[in-house]
Amino acid sequence: MKQITIAIDGHSSCGKSTMAKQLARQLGYIYVDTGAMYRAVTLYAMRNTIRPDGTLDTALLQKRMSYVAVGFVLDKETGLPLTTLCGEVVEDAKRRMDVSARVSEVAALPFVREAMTREQKQMGRNGGIVMDGRDIGTVVFPDAELKVFVTASAEVRARRRFDELRAKGEEAVYEDILQNVKERDYIDSHREVAPLRQATDAILLDNSHMTREEQSAWLLEKARDTISRRNNAQS
Ligand code: DC
Repeated sequence: MKQITIAIDGHSSCGKSTMAKQLARQLGYIYVDTGAMYRAVTLYAMRNTIRPDGTLDTALLQKRMSYVAVGFVLDKETGLPLTTLCGEVVEDAKRRMDVSARVSEVAALPFVREAMTREQKQMGRNGGIVMDGRDIGTVVFPDAELKVFVTASAEVRARRRFDELRAKGEEAVYEDILQNVKERDYIDSHREVAPLRQATDAILLDNSHMTREEQSAWLLEKARDTISRRNNAQS
């Protein structure tokens, strides 16, 4: 059976990763969270290229980019992918609020996007992949067999991120998170390189009023339909 490529794009904190991860498990496909890759590069930049005044030295980051190895290893217990930066597992560090606050700035740098896009294309070269991000259906895999664009209101997304942080026992202020969500929406959709936008052939999913189970069932049905149409067309 042909394994397809599934691109899931959309706004931040709308549950894309959870849906995509579950779909990959159900189909036996590889799952790649490209936001995690941009967060790992941001962590590198914050650790190694911060100037005394707190700004990022992007020229230094560009010079070092070929050493910034971002990848994934499988957690032996859960079977889920863990993000690595130069061989170190950075799964928890990459979700910190200070990383969230700077990731859009780093993700907008053309040399960062170029390096990550190259890596992502390589990861998905044989299909059988569910990749989530902002530009997967438009730039990374414009020929993906199934493209979904996920969104929800900024308030619903901020509430979900707030609950997630609180559940982990982290300090969180709802208003700060809402502001961060809105700022990232703005930067992600207005940057020059690979801005966030819905691919013309993507299916829109507004999950503001859907449960996780409803979203997952919806997505699995779309994927199964696409896979069976592909297979019928080929036989
Ligand atoms: O999905 P996320 O919130 O973890 O993504 C983190 C940031 O990375 C987000 O601000 C947008 C950016 N990003 C991107 O520019 N392109 C992608 N393919 C994935 C994420």
